[in-house]
Amino acid sequence: MPQSLPTLCGSIMGSPFSLSAKIHNAAYAALGLDYTFVCFGIEDPVAGVAAIRTLGVRGMNVSMPYKTVVMEHLDAIDESALVIGAVNTINNVDGVLTGYNTDYLGAVRALQEVCELNKQRIAVIGAGGAARAVVYGCLQAAARVTVFNRSSERGKVLSSDLGAHWGGGVETFAAQDFDIVINATSVGFKQPDSNPLDGLLASHLIVMDVAFMPVRTALLLQAAELGCRTVSGTRMLVHQACRQIELYTGMEAPIDIMEQAMLEEIQRLNL
Ligand SMILES: NC(=O)c1ccc[n+]([C@@H]2O[C@H](COP(=O)([O-])OP(=O)(O)OC[C@H]3O[C@@H](n4cnc5c(N)ncnc54)[C@H](OP(=O)(O)O)[C@@H]3O)[C@@H](O)[C@H]2O)c1
Repeated sequence: MPQSLPTLCGSIMGSPFSLSAKIHNAAYAALGLDYTFVCFGIEDPVAGVAAIRTLGVRGMNVSMPYKTVVMEHLDAIDESALVIGAVNTINNVDGVLTGYNTDYLGAVRALQEVCELNKQRIAVIGAGGAARAVVYGCLQAAARVTVFNRSSERGKVLSSDLGAHWGGGVETFAAQDFDIVINATSVGFKQPDSNPLDGLLASHLIVMDVAFMPVRTALLLQAAELGCRTVSGTRMLVHQACRQIELYTGMEAPIDIMEQAMLEEIQRLNL
């Protein structure tokens, strides 16, 4: 397998975004590793995968909009990524490229910091890539999952693909039927005034948002005001990055240092 110095890791996506580079480089520095992480905004994801092989890139994150298209160009796909239908992490071990999905694990690890998931009644709002990962993770943790989505066609497909219940449009969500509600739509991301569950929450709920900018979204602020326990998208993000560090380095991820780097960068990007 080709070698590069320092050991190179990176991210491919439609337009470059600095957050992963800050999180990963903070982790490598803390672990004393001669690794560097670079973010590549690219137009040709197939050539991007070929470049991993050509340059000997050790690990490559995959972001929007390439999480599905890269899959057929890898040598192996982890079972969870196969079921979810999206790869956000390519692990290059001795020239063999394996695709993983760490988003689902990030969501589960973040939720499990707050509660057990076994038999919990969970409502997931959304039916895109993030929702698929969240639903898969919650089902793996033996929760009872109901999906709500704006487009019923997409929501029904997700529900039947993964074995969740289909609930209908978000307006049909009734707080008393659930223990946990998770916003996995893109509503709220870089939209500090948008709350997809405005007026639909109740104080017994644990409320999670996958949106991570701003850190305290309108949904989480309303939930906290009501007295709900909350889980932020940043916690999911840092946990999924920890799994990537484990795959790329074989070492335990320094989560506190990574979280600090993430929050500093989000604050800088918000300026
Ligand atoms: N925290 C983390 O670690 C993490 C990881 C991955 C992704 N994310 C975040 O997850 C979010 C979703 O990403 P994705 O890849 O799943 O996107 P996606 O595949 O484009 O799906 C978007 C989802 O949002 C819904 N939606 C969009 N606009 C809406 C609106 N105005 N009203 C109601 N529903 C709306 C869509 O409904 P329709 O089906 O009806 O169009 C769909 O369910 C993004 O903000 C992303 O940054 C966070």
